Amino acid sequence: MFQEKIDLANENMIVTPWVVSGEIDYDKLIQQFGTEPITEALLERIKKHTGDLHLQLRRRIFFSHRDLNWILDMYEKGERFYLYTGRGPSGGVHIGHVVPWLFTKYLQDKFGAKLYFQLTDDEKFFITPEMSKEKALSLSYENALDVIAVGFDPKKTKLISDMKNAKVMYNIAIDVAKHVTASTAKAVFGFTDSSNIGIIFFPSMQAAPCFVESVFEKKNVPCLIPAAIDQDPYWRIARDVAPKLGYYKPAQIHSRFLPGLGKGGKMSSSMPETCIFTVDSPKVAEKKIMNAFTGGRSTVEEQRKLGADPSICTVYDYERLMFESDDEKLIELERLCKTGQILCGECKQILAERVKEFLIEHQKRREKAKDLVESYFLQS
Ligand code: TYM
Repeated sequence: MFQEKIDLANENMIVTPWVVSGEIDYDKLIQQFGTEPITEALLERIKKHTGDLHLQLRRRIFFSHRDLNWILDMYEKGERFYLYTGRGPSGGVHIGHVVPWLFTKYLQDKFGAKLYFQLTDDEKFFITPEMSKEKALSLSYENALDVIAVGFDPKKTKLISDMKNAKVMYNIAIDVAKHVTASTAKAVFGFTDSSNIGIIFFPSMQAAPCFVESVFEKKNVPCLIPAAIDQDPYWRIARDVAPKLGYYKPAQIHSRFLPGLGKGGKMSSSMPETCIFTVDSPKVAEKKIMNAFTGGRSTVEEQRKLGADPSICTVYDYERLMFESDDEKLIELERLCKTGQILCGECKQILAERVKEFLIEHQKRREKAKDLVESYFLQS
């Protein structure tokens, strides 16, 4: 339903909050969405405050932003920003979702920032015909365990469920909604006359946490949103409305997508075989990785002779986005791959071990989170 409207000039590329498909040209997205690239100068500026650069910055996994220089200007003047990110609880969390959350944790640790994490159970209720309210709310709680397992600072982190914390969210959302016309919502999100009116109102719920700290503190507080680029349409609305309500415009830092294990496209729960869920058993995850699409040749002989292509390989991408933190080792892996000195089976096995280790640790923390989950939610 939302696809047609936002198909970007590149016919194969679709990037919306609900659909991401085709070959994604990130430079083109910067142009189309009107954002700024992350430059060397900006990285240097961030490094002055953080001491080191997260691998997702060094490797431009976070590749684009809006107003990040302004956030740093404010920070340098002593005005602290808060972080805002979220999850639409449509089912299980996969490791692609965790990519921006790991980066958000880094920002929280380095800048001592507060974090509001929104769970848009209302969105999933509106958009998924078979989703009941009860199911959406219970998925919020299930997904909250994964968020807590990432290790955010409990003293500085609040989870928001749109349904559970409706009073706070609705009060801000109606201020936003009053300034967004149906034609803007249609143009930005591709809603049609057959979209239910709940989902048409919903963007104002997702905009609400951009201003929640200003409402609580009764003064303007800068907000920085780390998320993949698919969520950008919401921020265009929020930024348009902010000055009309007397708030600062929220700033953003955008990430690329972790691909699925199949050929092309981002990791998505709708294709479970190409997707590693945080609750997958290590054995299941290993099996999925062993079936992954790589840049390998059709025979071992050919690969030994001609090498493989890491630029199209999902296994290499997982190392680059998440699992190999040592830049030199990553370069060496690329060299071994291109020169045919390592075969896809070996690479898959190395990755499978890392993913299994990640899952075991994550699942332990997720289990512990069951006792804590209530205390993380906003109590209003
Ligand atoms: P959702 O649940 O689709 O995605 C949650 C977060 O994960 C990012 N993401 C990915 N990042 C890397 N690789 C992938 N394959 C991948 N798939 C998803 C998304 O960009 C997002 O950051 N409506 C939102 C929930 C939400 C939200 C927010 C997200 C509410 N407020 C503020 C970000 C920031 C949603 O359904 O996200």
